[in-house]
Amino acid sequence: MSALFSPFELKSAKLRNRIAIPPMCQYSAIDGVTNDWHLAHYASLARGGAGLVIVEATAVSPEGRISPGCTGLWNDEQTAGMARIAAAIKSHGAVPGIQIAHAGRKASANRPWEGDDHIGEDDPRGWPTISPSAVAFGGDLGKVPKAMTLDDIARVKADFVAAARRALAAGFEWLELHFAHGYLAQSFFSLHANHREDNYGGDLAGRSRFLLETLAAVREVWPEHLPLTARFGVIEYDGRDEETLAESITLARQMREGGLDLLSVSVGFSTPNANIPWGTPFLAPISERVKKEAGIPVASAWGIDDPVVANRIVADGQLDLVMVGRAHLANPHWPYFAARELDEKRPTWVLPAPYAHWLERYRAPRAA
Ligand SMILES: Cc1cc2nc3c(=O)[nH]c(=O)nc-3n(C[C@H](O)[C@H](O)[C@H](O)COP(=O)(O)O)c2cc1C
Repeated sequence: MSALFSPFELKSAKLRNRIAIPPMCQYSAIDGVTNDWHLAHYASLARGGAGLVIVEATAVSPEGRISPGCTGLWNDEQTAGMARIAAAIKSHGAVPGIQIAHAGRKASANRPWEGDDHIGEDDPRGWPTISPSAVAFGGDLGKVPKAMTLDDIARVKADFVAAARRALAAGFEWLELHFAHGYLAQSFFSLHANHREDNYGGDLAGRSRFLLETLAAVREVWPEHLPLTARFGVIEYDGRDEETLAESITLARQMREGGLDLLSVSVGFSTPNANIPWGTPFLAPISERVKKEAGIPVASAWGIDDPVVANRIVADGQLDLVMVGRAHLANPHWPYFAARELDEKRPTWVLPAPYAHWLERYRAPRAA
């Protein structure tokens, strides 16, 4: 059996292979509530054979949504919709995961295909944003956020805790805290966004405080036997890379000591002026370093869509889980084609019986 198709266990979560589907916003909810689109989308991803399916960035409060179409977990209707999605993912053999998030100064934006920019100040669809400091992200996201008070900080931490409880009630078995991508938590860590002079800013300990406190608060309500993970941008590609990485590894170690079970290694996206080396699986060697130096299992994404490369990355121990995102949008049966590419003995075992039975006999042409 190839490394990619070897099982993976983390606490009580048992993944049938090392393929994970990272959170991918669908921007298709109304008032944070999921609908048939989300159900069909997540069911088809899970049916494709991945070991773990993580539901998109789901806001812990209305102001924490990236766009008006983002999913939320702050009321019962949203929780009921998410329960259907978690059950569908699980019924197709994947572990149901969810990412809970607050978009901070990047909130109140138009959908990517409708501009990806901040909603205009006079547009009633928008809302005021918050961040550690009153500093805009820049570029198309020029809205100046309100600098958070200590009460705001306490409230958002409580919102994360409440959303984690709802995720558990909905049946998710893997929780990912969105500490990445220039959203609220990443903004606390980043010098690009955090200019505070109190305990939540300044040195590494100050800039890490919101993340560590949120993790600790969520760990108290998220059961010990279920994986609690975070996605975090360990590097910005802004010219300060070695310093940021060293700080990130220190934080990753502290998060492990604070009860984090796995880190999903990503990019900070805290500045529009980053120089990111797209095109290769550039985060695999960086993730390996985080894994070794922080002593924590790692997952990562970004450009790992070739099954042979994905398999090598797992076999070499760079990543425990390979996150395959856009390739799954193009082909929800990516794991089946990967199994064929890797000459697995029975690639059809990743498929449900009503599909597998027919494909045992008929070898469809390989996907391009
Ligand atoms: C449509 C879309 C939505 C995304 N939404 C999220 C999200 O909700 N949370 C997140 O952490 N990353 C999000 N991302 C980033 C993906 O999780 C992933 O890191 C990215 O697509 C790179 O992996 P890939 O090269 O395999 O696609 C999104 C990406 C796409 C394409």
